[in-house]
Amino acid sequence: MDEPASAYLAEANRLFSGSVTFLKSAPALEFLPAPTVPEIAFAGRSNVGKSSLLNALVGRRAIARTSVTPGRTQELNFFEVGDPAVFRVVDMPGYGFAKAPKDVVKKWRFLINDYLRGRQVLKRTLVLIDSRHGIKPVDLDVLKMLDEAAVSYRLVLTKADKIKASELEAVADATRIEARKHAAAFPDVIVTSSEKRMGIDELRGFVLDSVNT
Ligand code: GTP
Ligand code: MG
Repeated sequence: MDEPASAYLAEANRLFSGSVTFLKSAPALEFLPAPTVPEIAFAGRSNVGKSSLLNALVGRRAIARTSVTPGRTQELNFFEVGDPAVFRVVDMPGYGFAKAPKDVVKKWRFLINDYLRGRQVLKRTLVLIDSRHGIKPVDLDVLKMLDEAAVSYRLVLTKADKIKASELEAVADATRIEARKHAAAFPDVIVTSSEKRMGIDELRGFVLDSVNT
């Protein structure tokens, strides 16, 4: 784990065990909350585990709504940490959800891209990758967009409990190799399981480090 991340862990744990509240849902850009505090966004394909990881990060069972059916999160959902708010975490709709109607997919894509590209207070984006599947072409499109917009991001593997340790090691290596090809990406990945609470402390340290950058 990075030095700065570990230094922030105690502070992160203190913050997350305090106030965490749902602020608002934004179905379109005009409904974004005023950009008053730093934000950290959760992005990734539908069903990758964004909402679950956000819940694990803030230590709440179901502050963000999760579902076995892809396409659960349909708006940008803002959650505030600290009272008064120190920063926000943002749960996003998934990309690459083939079963949604075409106009809905398009609306989500514009919402996600416009938010990620244009938000001044967005400090870092977590791009979640399912450990069982690794990086897909649709992920690469998003990484390219983030590189071009110079949005700092980190790749995070999810659902690590679902595969064998040897397979997990292989997918982590491959994901790290890919991360190093991307200008705006952190070179290392965080391996997580929301179910088993794996990698959550490292994620907490990273988030707080990002907020304070
Ligand atoms: P959308 O909002 O539809 O884009 O999905 P999402 O990325 O927010 O995924 P969500 O958190 O709703 O999780 C999708 C499914 O994966 C749910 O059934 C979760 O219980 C399951 N899941 C999420 N994280 C984990 C994990 O770490 N381990 C396991 N085994 N299942 C997980
Ligand atoms: Mg979700």
